[in-house]
Amino acid sequence: MEITITENYEEMSKVSAQIIAEEIRKKHNLLLGLATGDTPIGTYKELVRIHKEEGLDFSKVKSFNLDEYLGLAPLHKNSYNYFMWDNLVKHININPENVYIPQGNINDPEQFCRWYEEQIRKLGGIDLQILGIGSDGHIAFNEPGSSFASRTRIKALVEQTIEDNSRFFDKIEDVPRFAITMGVGTILEAKKILLIANGKKKADVCAKFIEGPVTSQITATALQLHSYVNVVLDKDAASKLKRTDYYNWVRDNKHLVQKEIGR
Ligand code: GLP
Repeated sequence: MEITITENYEEMSKVSAQIIAEEIRKKHNLLLGLATGDTPIGTYKELVRIHKEEGLDFSKVKSFNLDEYLGLAPLHKNSYNYFMWDNLVKHININPENVYIPQGNINDPEQFCRWYEEQIRKLGGIDLQILGIGSDGHIAFNEPGSSFASRTRIKALVEQTIEDNSRFFDKIEDVPRFAITMGVGTILEAKKILLIANGKKKADVCAKFIEGPVTSQITATALQLHSYVNVVLDKDAASKLKRTDYYNWVRDNKHLVQKEIGR
């Protein structure tokens, strides 16, 4: 894992958007895995800026979102479909036909999950997957205990996630108890992964998933098994890491690393 510690949320957003923009410039028809939550809002804003001011072209990009609440229609204001349109899709020149987001109110969600996996495979697999992290260490909605081999499926949310995400809803009872989510196995098949996190509330979980043992109880630790992961944190989220000096040295001497491994 390559760990980049930034000064604040704004810098985290800029650094992560640059990583994404660079991948799109290198491969115009990039298959981009998208995440929701508060964390990537700044990254998406910066991508919109790069699109508008520097002409970053999304016309051939295809996107696949990680997850969606089961039961919420795409137009529901708390759905991840709504979030994506509001924060990114409507501001850039991506073809709406190329935007794949699980549909929460689908008639047969299990069949949908199989179809979703098939589409990802058919289109060549995800090139770059963006991730946030839940306070219990989940990636997408892969709650503690999710198999590292899991695929897109329906997952019951744990109490902590329901509480965390209740801030977006009028009342906690409105938070759906289930979600459609890509599996840990699906995520691990992405060619590259970019995880972003900010704020003191993510410090414990970031220390655990970066420097702790691999365990399905913290599904983000599965990323230790992947060969190309970029983690971009702000100072607060990185505050409990033990090997900060090493990560900063690598960041400041990246030109040497790049020479060695050809990134
Ligand atoms: C949800 C999403 C995750 C996201 C997490 C963190 O549970 N399913 O994909 O990473 O929230 O959200 P936030 O960025 O708001 O802290």
